Amino acid sequence: MLNISHLSKSFNSLKAVDDISFEVDKGEIFGFLGPNGAGKTTTISMISGLLKPDSGKIIIDGLDQDTNIKKIKKLMGVVPQDMAFYEELTAKENLSFWGKLHGMGKKTLNERMAYLLTKTGLSGRENDPLKKYSGGMKRRINLIIGLIHQPKLLLLDEPTLGIDVQTKLNIYEIIQEASEKDSTVIYTTHNLKEAEELCHRIAIIDNGKILAIGTLEELIQIVGEKDIVLIQGNFKAEQASQIIIQFKEAETLSLKDENIVLSVEASKEIPVILEGFFKAGLPVNSISIKQPNLESVFLKLTGKELRE
Ligand SMILES: Nc1ncnc2c1ncn2[C@@H]1O[C@H](COP(=O)(O)OP(=O)(O)OP(=O)(O)O)[C@@H](O)[C@H]1O
Ligand SMILES: [Mg+2]
Repeated sequence: MLNISHLSKSFNSLKAVDDISFEVDKGEIFGFLGPNGAGKTTTISMISGLLKPDSGKIIIDGLDQDTNIKKIKKLMGVVPQDMAFYEELTAKENLSFWGKLHGMGKKTLNERMAYLLTKTGLSGRENDPLKKYSGGMKRRINLIIGLIHQPKLLLLDEPTLGIDVQTKLNIYEIIQEASEKDSTVIYTTHNLKEAEELCHRIAIIDNGKILAIGTLEELIQIVGEKDIVLIQGNFKAEQASQIIIQFKEAETLSLKDENIVLSVEASKEIPVILEGFFKAGLPVNSISIKQPNLESVFLKLTGKELRE
């Protein structure tokens, strides 16, 4: 459904998107996971036709985006990170406007509108102008405007930012339903849990580059079978590193003052590593051991923690 090859975009000397390629199948929910400034929005903007790539190709439903942008816009729904609606108009008026623009008939439009408003907890407020909505309510209406016409390709740029837990779950349901009806979904997020729970496949992006693509299981294999161990204590990064270097089996995923994360077989190696800290006179205050997850994959690939 979507085929991206060697896509790049720079802003002056900054490579916001740096030679990325990926394919997304029909009906797939494809996660684009990366920290602030990774290049997620820039990629989405190029796919939606808002921003012209410096180089690379975008094929959507068999159509080259370069020469078929009008046709492509018809089959696409875009939910931008920044709000895109008319503040002075009501929720209903906004949804009608966008629905009609996409050629929806009155009956289908009304049914779809009622469904989406209920699902996002906005029914009862549909006749208020959007300028009277709270921040979270604005995010919800921003989302359903992009979904109203049941697009074949749905581009969602951090759609659940600032939304409460219950509404988030309803939004996941809407997205899953869209996918079951064969809509293809590109879902950008910097939330690990969201990527794990919602996405069929995930691309990890940082500094404009895709570092890995796969299902959750495939990505977790990158860190292997070993445990993820976090050691905290009163030590400098350099001191901890000098101890860890003696243990060939231990791989350092992240290293900071007072805080080191290792990929290691915990039951075997932890006692000796702790002894190393003890002998060097470096106090350890706490240890936590976890199974490999998306967080550890992210750490391993980027050397960064991804926190909300
Ligand atoms: N219009 C622009 N002009 C100059 N630089 C830009 C522009 N848009 C984005 N950038 C830069 O490109 C890089 C990628 O930005 P982008 O908005 O794609 O990141 P993102 O992954 O969406 O981040 P976030 O999670 O914060 O939304 C950043 O360093 C950003 O400063
Ligand atoms: Mg963004």
